[in-house]
Amino acid sequence: MSQMRLDKYLADMGVGTRSQIKEDIKKGKVFVNDMMIKTPELKVLPDSDIIFYDNELISYTKWEYIMLYKPAGVLSATRDKKIPTVLDLLKEKKRKDLFPVGRLDKDTEGLLFITNDGLLAHQILSPKNHVAKCYYVEVNGSLTQEMIEEFQTGLKLEDGYVTLPSELKILKNMETQAQAEVTIYEGKYHQIKRMFEAVGRSVIYLKRLSMGTLVLDPNLEKGEYRYLTKEEIECLKEEGKKKE
Ligand code: URA
Repeated sequence: MSQMRLDKYLADMGVGTRSQIKEDIKKGKVFVNDMMIKTPELKVLPDSDIIFYDNELISYTKWEYIMLYKPAGVLSATRDKKIPTVLDLLKEKKRKDLFPVGRLDKDTEGLLFITNDGLLAHQILSPKNHVAKCYYVEVNGSLTQEMIEEFQTGLKLEDGYVTLPSELKILKNMETQAQAEVTIYEGKYHQIKRMFEAVGRSVIYLKRLSMGTLVLDPNLEKGEYRYLTKEEIECLKEEGKKKE
């Protein structure tokens, strides 16, 4: 990587705001290769310089890949004045360029992929790529074999749009309620809820289980997150490249 300003390096790594960082640099809190540096505009080499901020080694990582178990009640957005967003759930150093890949409704839970890698996000979301998204769903009323077939053929939504073929797998059928898994290969607004509306059912609980090869880690609690493994990142990249 080419040289960059020391204050930008630290801001990119999310240790604070640019103005906070400038002040801390002037206060002598930053060391580059064992030397106290008081000039925020100093050029550093992200790949080789050793940079400490407040006695903590700050390594430069260009790309971040995070999976979050989104709880209900938070928005899939970067910022909101009133309602907490998924980025507010990231507790550690938080860089400014992260964003959620695709949206889950405020009341939907489950897997949300967060990154600053715009190219990968674009590839994963590209309609050409038909990346599979699997959801666990609870609906009012029972589900039928006929509905499985309708999901398979494509459903006409209330605005006339006909969905791509999808898979409905019934897990538990009761008279007044059912549990199922649904896999879709596109991502229209409120898609799952609208698909069930099209067959006369309403969704009472929705959770995303996977997105392409990325599966929600069962060790995560609601609201928790972790960084993706190298393998998970590689698999997503492979998937993104399919039709691009
Ligand atoms: N489909 C929906 O209806 N809502 C979501 O949050 C995701 C898919």
